[in-house]
Amino acid sequence: MYPLRRNRRLRTSEAVRSLVRETIISPNDFIVPLFVVEGKGIKEEIASMPNYFRFSLDLLEQEVKELWKMGLKSVLIFVKVPDNLKDNAGTEALNAEGLMQRAIKIVKNAVPEMLVMTDVALDPYSSFGHDGVVADGKIINDDTTAILTEMSLSHAKAGADFIAPSDMMDGRIFEIRSLLEDEGFHDTGIMSYSAKYASAFYGPFRDALDSAPGFGDKKTYQMDPANREEAIRETLMDIEEGADIVMVKPGLCYLDIVRDIKEAVTVPVAVYQVSGEYAMIKAASEKGWLDHDAVMMEQLTAIKRAGANMIASYFAKDAVKLLS
Ligand code: PBG
Repeated sequence: MYPLRRNRRLRTSEAVRSLVRETIISPNDFIVPLFVVEGKGIKEEIASMPNYFRFSLDLLEQEVKELWKMGLKSVLIFVKVPDNLKDNAGTEALNAEGLMQRAIKIVKNAVPEMLVMTDVALDPYSSFGHDGVVADGKIINDDTTAILTEMSLSHAKAGADFIAPSDMMDGRIFEIRSLLEDEGFHDTGIMSYSAKYASAFYGPFRDALDSAPGFGDKKTYQMDPANREEAIRETLMDIEEGADIVMVKPGLCYLDIVRDIKEAVTVPVAVYQVSGEYAMIKAASEKGWLDHDAVMMEQLTAIKRAGANMIASYFAKDAVKLLS
């Protein structure tokens, strides 16, 4: 007999499609990256990230209020540090009155319920544009970790809810967790960039923060895109060391890794859909080659379907506007 099963029955109308849909994107899924600069009245577009901006603190305040109204409840803060404050020891990163520390307070003050996550890595502060301390052309792991640990404490003191180390040094989650506990910051969470690849998709982000490496590349600390099992090893270690949320980064090219990790762990998994992924969609749609909204939603859905419990994405506002 002709097939009893016809899979197309479940696709005949939007009503039935929405009934059987397995993956739903909502405002709850997003973490919104925010780029912050010194100054006043600044909202400047990032050249390689159309319709994405750096904000000075006064305008950041308005932006987070708007995000909250849209139902976006988590932000991830990055700062663009003036060149004259960059060195090889992350000195400015530990300044209690530094741009990051002020930004945390501004956001918490503007919207106290907003979940504030902060980037922890030395690259925006580094005269070499590297995520750690440099000596003899090498990135020194343990010296870097010692600074990242103090940096994390400084963010926690300023009011950060989650610390997000994006540096890929070994052992930093353990050191950060230990210091936070010793200092009484029991509720400050850690979202670890656990499987962060040495990707060419970070280019526009480095434009945004003027943080491109001055020499070499990041392959001695970020992961080789060719590796899969190593991602699980990295992630399990970060969980043992105390990470509350783990992350895979970038998104689209690494969805096999997202699925592997989702199946290997029982903590929430975040995915960072990175700047290059954003730029590709913007550029192709500007040329009229791709349908911006459709491609954006397809990619976000694919990331969530692969196993992401949350997505850090520059599309958060665009997506939420489209959903409402
Ligand atoms: C650096 C950092 C990078 C990103 C987040 N944190 C760039 C890098 O590792 O060079 C990239 C984010 C993006 O491309 O959107 N610690």
